[in-house]
Amino acid sequence: MVFRRDVSLHDGSLMPRFGMGTWHLAEGRRSPAQEEAALKAGLDAGISLIDTAEMYADGRAESLVGRAITGYDRSRLFLVSKVYPHNAGRRQLRRSLEASLRRLGTDYLDMYLLHWRGSIPLAETVDCMERAKSDGLIRNWGVSNFDIDDMRELFATPGGDLCAVNQDLYHLGSRGVEFSLLPWMDAHGVPLMAYCPMAQAGRLNRRILDDPAVRAVASAHGVGPIQVLLAFVLRRDDTIAIPCSGDARHVLDNLRACDLALSADELAALDDAFPAPTSKEPLDMQ
Ligand SMILES: NC(=O)c1ccc[n+]([C@@H]2O[C@H](COP(=O)([O-])OP(=O)(O)OC[C@H]3O[C@@H](n4cnc5c(N)ncnc54)[C@H](OP(=O)(O)O)[C@@H]3O)[C@@H](O)[C@H]2O)c1
Repeated sequence: MVFRRDVSLHDGSLMPRFGMGTWHLAEGRRSPAQEEAALKAGLDAGISLIDTAEMYADGRAESLVGRAITGYDRSRLFLVSKVYPHNAGRRQLRRSLEASLRRLGTDYLDMYLLHWRGSIPLAETVDCMERAKSDGLIRNWGVSNFDIDDMRELFATPGGDLCAVNQDLYHLGSRGVEFSLLPWMDAHGVPLMAYCPMAQAGRLNRRILDDPAVRAVASAHGVGPIQVLLAFVLRRDDTIAIPCSGDARHVLDNLRACDLALSADELAALDDAFPAPTSKEPLDMQ
């Protein structure tokens, strides 16, 4: 199996399937230089997608990304940011977007997401997103933390079917979206951006990295359990993974998941250990 590097969006444009997340970066856990070096290591290795948000470290994650991408060809990058729900209306969205662009040091975003649903009507957010698109400030827009009922309501809203992606939590230990949301998204041409694809290195599911099935697949391929988790998410052609790391070594290790094709037997063993849902489950969120 050859790894498909991009997904096609509804307008025919391409979006990379492997990116770098930025939540918890720029919060002082590591030096800014180290985190910038981690992002640059990814860029140098060919990772062009970076996912950030106005929320992350109060805008400092966007500023970190802005510093990291300085000197790289903007046209080869795919930058995603997110607007707070309370800023996703007529009075605020443009101001939030312009602030994000300033911090990122760019004049457009490739993708702008509503971070989660708030009280501003979807129709108003869609209208603001479409205006930002017409004005050339964003190439596409999407949503995050939307479950199937939210997606249905969005698609019933005028212009709502122009939503390009939905970013939700998805990893081997949290497969609830597979029951009805992913089939719905597949049918409507909305790719999934999978966040926490490594269950935050096991923090969201303590047994996942020590699971014998995960370990067996990892040792068969000469990789670690983290890469198996990423390969599991990436087995779906219409899924984008955005693992986060502030460590250059980890960024490069994670990229190895793109070359890891899981066999049918391996997928069956992972299915046995972490079964797919058999009924609707509430959307898992972070
Ligand atoms: N839309 C939303 O509501 C939402 C919510 C959550 C996340 N997100 C997005 O999705 C991205 C990914 O999610 P996430 O950051 O929560 O979780 P994640 O990517 O599953 O895990 C991140 C954690 O894994 C560690 N890690 C990464 N690579 C590793 C490796 N090779 N070996 C060992 N540890 C490793 C990182 O630590 P080190 O820095 O030490 O490598 C970090 O603590 C976020 O950064 C953000 O951009 C979106």
